Amino acid sequence: MTIPSIGLGTFRLQGQAAIDSVRTGLALGYRHIDTAQIYGNEREVGQALREAGVARSEIYLTTKVWTGHLAADRLAASLKDSLSKLGVEQVDLTLIHWPSPGGAVPVAESMEALLAARDAGLSGAIGISNFPVALMREAIASVGAQQIATNQVELHPYLQNRTVVDAARAAGIHITAYMPLAYGKVLDDPVIGAIARRLGATPAQVTLAWLLAKGYAVIPSSTKRANLAGNLAADTLVLDALEHAAIDALDNGGRLVSPDFAPAWD
Ligand SMILES: NC(=O)c1ccc[n+]([C@@H]2O[C@H](COP(=O)([O-])OP(=O)(O)OC[C@H]3O[C@@H](n4cnc5c(N)ncnc54)[C@H](OP(=O)(O)O)[C@@H]3O)[C@@H](O)[C@H]2O)c1
Repeated sequence: MTIPSIGLGTFRLQGQAAIDSVRTGLALGYRHIDTAQIYGNEREVGQALREAGVARSEIYLTTKVWTGHLAADRLAASLKDSLSKLGVEQVDLTLIHWPSPGGAVPVAESMEALLAARDAGLSGAIGISNFPVALMREAIASVGAQQIATNQVELHPYLQNRTVVDAARAAGIHITAYMPLAYGKVLDDPVIGAIARRLGATPAQVTLAWLLAKGYAVIPSSTKRANLAGNLAADTLVLDALEHAAIDALDNGGRLVSPDFAPAWD
């Protein structure tokens, strides 16, 4: 199964808010849900999946292994714990959420353990997240690029991450754009606003359409039904070359996610 181009992010959503967002998203037609061990909402995501009444086989479900579980003797057990919380036999995609802080666990050790977990049936596919080029190359060297379904990275008009994108493309690795709306920051951008007015669309739709046209998967999150619906409809919006160029020109290196354990960025 390939990664559906529009997914529903669940970072920060806790308790009933997580259940409501995922259940509403599935009712509206989302078929790709992105969670993570560290989000603390795998149980709620699982509950929403069951309550939505959509066949498991129709849903592309991603989780991410937290940094404390990257050692070979911990990874599979932590993924089994995720499956139990989610109430599923297998997720569709499991990502290494962040490279091991300070390189404490070698990339090859985690990738080989992740591949073994996939081959044992715990996950349909595997991938990486927040991997800059040097570490992405280590991941490729350990398991092969063809085994890596995606590199999920922060990517929006203010942080276009071109170095990582170019290296991933050269290796044939798909990009998933996380925080595609820059957590709402790009929605007040005057350039994006002008394009939205011209096209009769929302700034969020313009931003997502711009990302989708580049071939990325996008995983915006929302707690509001109208925003969830609008974001899902972004795949019918087409920008022209000038509109693309105008958004391409907005990159200002505006990285929002860089915890103290982050790797050296490109
Ligand atoms: N791999 C990683 O390390 C990593 C890191 C961060 C995020 N992620 C993933 O990426 C997903 C998305 O990132 P994110 O949730 O941080 O940020 P985001 O999707 O860029 O932005 C979400 C924010 O935008 C607002 N919003 C969404 N649609 C809108 C619309 N149509 N109009 C106006 N406002 C809108 C939401 O508010 P409302 O609720 O009011 O709509 C929310 O405040 C996460 O949920 C997570 O799954 C991954």
